[in-house]
Amino acid sequence: MIILGIETSCDETGIALYHTDKGLLGQALFSQVELHALYGGVVPELASRDHVRRVLPLIRQVLEEAGCQPEDIDGVAYTAGPGLAGALLVGASTARALAFGWGVPALPVHHMEGHLLAPLLEEGGPQFPFVALLVSGGHTLLLEAKSLGQYIPLGESVDDAAGEAFDKVAKMMGLGYPGGPRIAALAEKGKPARFTFPRPMTDRPGLDFSFSGLKTFAMNTMSRCRDADGKLSDQDMADIARAFEEAVVETLVIKCRRAMEQTGQKTLVMAGGVSANKRLRARLAQALGEKNVRVFYPRQEYCTDNGAMIAFAGALRMAAGEHAESLAISVRPRWPLAELQPPQGTIG
Ligand code: KG4
Ligand code: ZN
Repeated sequence: MIILGIETSCDETGIALYHTDKGLLGQALFSQVELHALYGGVVPELASRDHVRRVLPLIRQVLEEAGCQPEDIDGVAYTAGPGLAGALLVGASTARALAFGWGVPALPVHHMEGHLLAPLLEEGGPQFPFVALLVSGGHTLLLEAKSLGQYIPLGESVDDAAGEAFDKVAKMMGLGYPGGPRIAALAEKGKPARFTFPRPMTDRPGLDFSFSGLKTFAMNTMSRCRDADGKLSDQDMADIARAFEEAVVETLVIKCRRAMEQTGQKTLVMAGGVSANKRLRARLAQALGEKNVRVFYPRQEYCTDNGAMIAFAGALRMAAGEHAESLAISVRPRWPLAELQPPQGTIG
């Protein structure tokens, strides 16, 4: 079975073809980062318009490169939410139209389920059940994944998502968008123990997160370091980036350790844009390795948004018997992962 995957939930147009026996046949990604960099964040209307420009040429390119014809395709999976409404609609209407024209099912996919399943794309990847840490620009979630579509929430951010905190602090420091990779690069030059940022909500029980206070802490630390002209030295910037990154990483590690103890699971899967962070990967592997927990994360290119994870999630659901009969083009910009159901015969 071959599934075409279409991801357009935010600022990346991602297309991929997934074969249930042979794996990934091809993929392409267009990142709008440069388009939005000027504004310091994603501008929804610009995002939608660019998806419109890119989506069909990218699909054509992926089909051609994989040597696939439309008649080879058995289903079209697309991100139906959560995400930007206009951006999602581009992917949804393209997918529905192609699926209708080709006479195959269209499969709405939850973006975060795509992230969650991305590590399973690899050979020797994890198997259900496991605990998942989903850390992206829009979400910070800990959940227990019992089986495909059965996700029990354990904790989430009560304010900013981890990636959002990286992006906001980077913006404050004038590093530009997206902030995560830029802060991570700067932190490499920072001295480890010059500043100590708080580890929010770790002094009380529970698995929720809060990252907005770290942003204020970073702002106050920056103010204290400014010279008479209001300037920060390169070393100050690097030291602040280091302290901020360590605080986010340590907080995530503490909560993950707790989640493993609480559930008794022995596998942790980390996914989403922030899972590309090298310090987070290393610290989690070290801290949980000591507890005999295996940590899995996707390869770098599958950490951030991509079409492969959507094609894969759609393929797993379709293989489990799910198919869509409705022709309605509907998206869910807000869609709690816990509302997701295991694969069902017919969906909307
Ligand atoms: O999953 P993703 O591509 O998009 C969403 O679904 O949100 O995640 C993007 C987020 C951004 O906030 C970005 O700053 C963050 O992931 N990110 C990182 C790193 N690479 C991307 N954060 C920390 N360290 C990184 N290396
Ligand atoms: Zn994402």
